[in-house]
Amino acid sequence: MLCLFKTLDPDLPLAKKILIIGSGGRENALAWGLEKANGVEKIFVAPGNGGTEEIPGCECLDIKETNVNAIIEICLSIQIDLVIIGAEAPLAAGLADKLRKAGLIVFGPGQEGAQLESSKSWAKSFMNEAGIPTAKHWESNNLENALGIIDSINKPLVIKADGLASGKGVTVPKNINESKTAVKEAFQGKFGSSGEKVILEEMLNGPEVSIFALSDGKQLVVLPPAQDHKRLNDGDQGPNTGGMGAYAPAPLIDSAQLKEIQKSILDPTLETLRNRGIDYRGVIYAGLMLTSSGPKVIEFNCRFGDPECQALIPLLG
Ligand code: AMP
Ligand code: GLY
Repeated sequence: MLCLFKTLDPDLPLAKKILIIGSGGRENALAWGLEKANGVEKIFVAPGNGGTEEIPGCECLDIKETNVNAIIEICLSIQIDLVIIGAEAPLAAGLADKLRKAGLIVFGPGQEGAQLESSKSWAKSFMNEAGIPTAKHWESNNLENALGIIDSINKPLVIKADGLASGKGVTVPKNINESKTAVKEAFQGKFGSSGEKVILEEMLNGPEVSIFALSDGKQLVVLPPAQDHKRLNDGDQGPNTGGMGAYAPAPLIDSAQLKEIQKSILDPTLETLRNRGIDYRGVIYAGLMLTSSGPKVIEFNCRFGDPECQALIPLLG
């Protein structure tokens, strides 16, 4: 990954000490890959997990990802050159902004850019402004109105909590009643404040692929496509999850299609971020559905996918 950033900016200083924030397999995969990069001497992961310290050159720090003051303090005291924020919650809470304010070099967007993931409503209006292909949608912040939308469309609509819900805030219904139950549950508080507003979406069909681009705010480097397995049980059965496993490169799209996706989705994303004055440094993750009328964005995320990252990092050399 450091080499990829050097492609964007050859003057980038070498990072000797890196701190990765998070506790997933994603963060371990990043640590495993970065430990092999030229010039890297030590990787710290805060808080890491049971497997982190098995990675050579890697040490866990017992600091929560929400403890901003402790993160800044340790970065300054052990002279961290680069902080990589792995997960969405600290990005959405503005950790990158706070660390940058303290003079640190950070990989991960600020709070404004992280809205690509932290508010589906924000992301939808962003996509519409940028002309990015995505499912038609409606928004509602009260039950009666949401039920009225379902009745008037008279088709099962996908129901999404507006805010972060650890990959569990989306219901893909089998029928109209399931759409109605999902909005009722959201307004009864199933997703806390994340479900105070719901997005009702036209149902799309097709295989899904995860596309990742690294951005320094000006340019993009697009990584190989990956696919994760969303459903809880074997045979694509059971409820959606954050991802039960992944593989890459996914043969669902070839390099010509990837270039097309860059042109129709990723470039307009970066351009629109820039037009909005957002200096987006980090991962732009577009979750796509390959529909019969072309790729459409199902969601944006502001960080690497987990588990996709575990399949991607070993490919990057
Ligand atoms: P999201 O959190 O928006 O990525 O949604 C989680 C999962 O729900 C996606 O990966 C899809 O499998 C499914 N999904 C979301 N939106 C739609 C849609 N409009 N049509 C069909 N399936 C969807
Ligand atoms: N694997 C899907 C995600 O990280 O959101």
